[in-house]
Amino acid sequence: FETDSIRNFSIIAHIDHGKSTLADRLLELTGTISKETKNLQVLDKLPVERQRGITVKAQSASMFYNYKGKKYLLNLIDTPGHVDFNYEVSRSLAACQGTVLLVDSAQGIQAQTVANFYLAFSQNLTVIPVLNKIDLPGADIPKVENQINNTFEFEKDQILNISAKTGINIDQILPAIIERIPQPSGRRDGPFKALLFDSWYDTYVGVICLISIEGGSIKRGDKIISAHTGVSYDVMQVGIMSPEMKKFSGQVGYVVCNMKSISEAHVGDTFFHQNHPVKPFPGFRQPKPMVFAGLFPADSNEYSKLQDAINQLTLNDSSVTVFRETSAALGQGWRLGFLGTLHMDVFKQRLEEEYGIDVILSHPTVPYKCEKELIIKSPEDFPDRSKIKGDSTLFEPMVSATIITPKEYLGSILNLCSYHRGALSSNTFIDETRVMVSVKLPMSEIVTDFYDKMKSLSSGFASLDYEDAGYEESDLVKMEVLVNSKTVDALASVMHKSKVDLIGREYGGDVTRKMKLLNKQKEGKKRMKAIGQVEIPHEAFISLMTKS
Ligand code: GTP
Repeated sequence: FETDSIRNFSIIAHIDHGKSTLADRLLELTGTISKETKNLQVLDKLPVERQRGITVKAQSASMFYNYKGKKYLLNLIDTPGHVDFNYEVSRSLAACQGTVLLVDSAQGIQAQTVANFYLAFSQNLTVIPVLNKIDLPGADIPKVENQINNTFEFEKDQILNISAKTGINIDQILPAIIERIPQPSGRRDGPFKALLFDSWYDTYVGVICLISIEGGSIKRGDKIISAHTGVSYDVMQVGIMSPEMKKFSGQVGYVVCNMKSISEAHVGDTFFHQNHPVKPFPGFRQPKPMVFAGLFPADSNEYSKLQDAINQLTLNDSSVTVFRETSAALGQGWRLGFLGTLHMDVFKQRLEEEYGIDVILSHPTVPYKCEKELIIKSPEDFPDRSKIKGDSTLFEPMVSATIITPKEYLGSILNLCSYHRGALSSNTFIDETRVMVSVKLPMSEIVTDFYDKMKSLSSGFASLDYEDAGYEESDLVKMEVLVNSKTVDALASVMHKSKVDLIGREYGGDVTRKMKLLNKQKEGKKRMKAIGQVEIPHEAFISLMTKS
């Protein structure tokens, strides 16, 4: 394939606006998959993705399509829709020249529509706006076209209207991709240069790297070098995902070389041919953990089984960080860092479902900092107040949040933001009925119940997206819980000074009530955790630790 008959594109959208459904329709239309798999969402492969109906890990698929007498190779790179996985979205976009921006024509523009548009826009991609779900009775095409025009400055004639579910106008998508998205810039005859944009571990094949080739080509037997580490590898297999691995020389595809572990596959790395060094790609920013939580086996005999499961899962998800942790109350465990609370929930669910291990996951906490250097991953790391000077040496992570809401809920949303220590930066109307609010909030407020409260006070209509906004000085304290004058490590937490009273009272009430109830139960007594001279029923203890 010459580069003028190749297009690399992705589909971006707010959660549930229909990306996976559209991807399936396109794979069917090109005969890449058969119609029998209808609505099975072939690109969402993890069981947790099927259950929750969300895409966690980006996958790619290549398809062939005849257009105006010419055969094209179209490489689709699927992207996750949830804010926790924004990092996967940006690395997928780096392998594309264009993207389909999908908007639900009943819901209109939502917070992640805006965030994803700007990610694509800042990477200079061609954006094709598409209204989906036009079959729904609640679809309001003129209204959503107007929002797209106001917010992203697309003209109406640039917008396609489709139903990914029923297939209406689905045949307009691939021609638009071919005509509007530029061909990749690479040259087949130049030196080999490829971007590593995703990788995973397969039990049979080993480490598989997804690459996007900017120039030159490779074949089995070639030697390639990682620009990041300088290590040389033998190319063992190359091909495209269509949707399974297929030996074919494409431009976005997979390469298997003799990497022993996934940790050798640095996303954002550049591969080149031995003896033909190239200027490497700038690389991706490393994903940073935004929440930390303690993880322990519910049954301490399952410690090594859990260790194996964590090793296996992190093989394919290098964005989880793992540290050992020992708790006086819960024994041996780990402190894990995640991109967000959904990422954390998905990880826990996979441990339980794919490995059958009962686990205890503590309250999530955000990475506070002391003196700009030391990261406080757990309350245990919190510095002794008497040893630090003044109040100004502690910092907490902040996020820039975008909220889109119908205007009737604006007042309550602004109150919610101020209750959660938010600082409003702007309010913009995206049409006569909807407002986009930009607000800076402490990350710790977001990881608790902000999202649920926002959803309930807007009857589900407001949406939220946020990105890292660095650190700010903060008046932080560590709250310790004493049971019979002894501190219990697993119940300690770090929080803003203004929250101490509220949370302390909730805790106290809970401990007393739960202990009273559970002490009544005879069986409860068999499984007590001895803390100092007081025994707390195991169930009460766990429910306090994991209460969200
Ligand atoms: P994430 O991967 O989690 O971001 O979601 P997604 O954007 O891939 O959405 P998905 O394709 O899973 O679709 C979400 C829901 O919308 C599913 O129940 C689909 O069946 C439904 N859906 C998708 N497209 C259409 C459409 O054109 N019309 C109607 N009525 N429903 C649709």
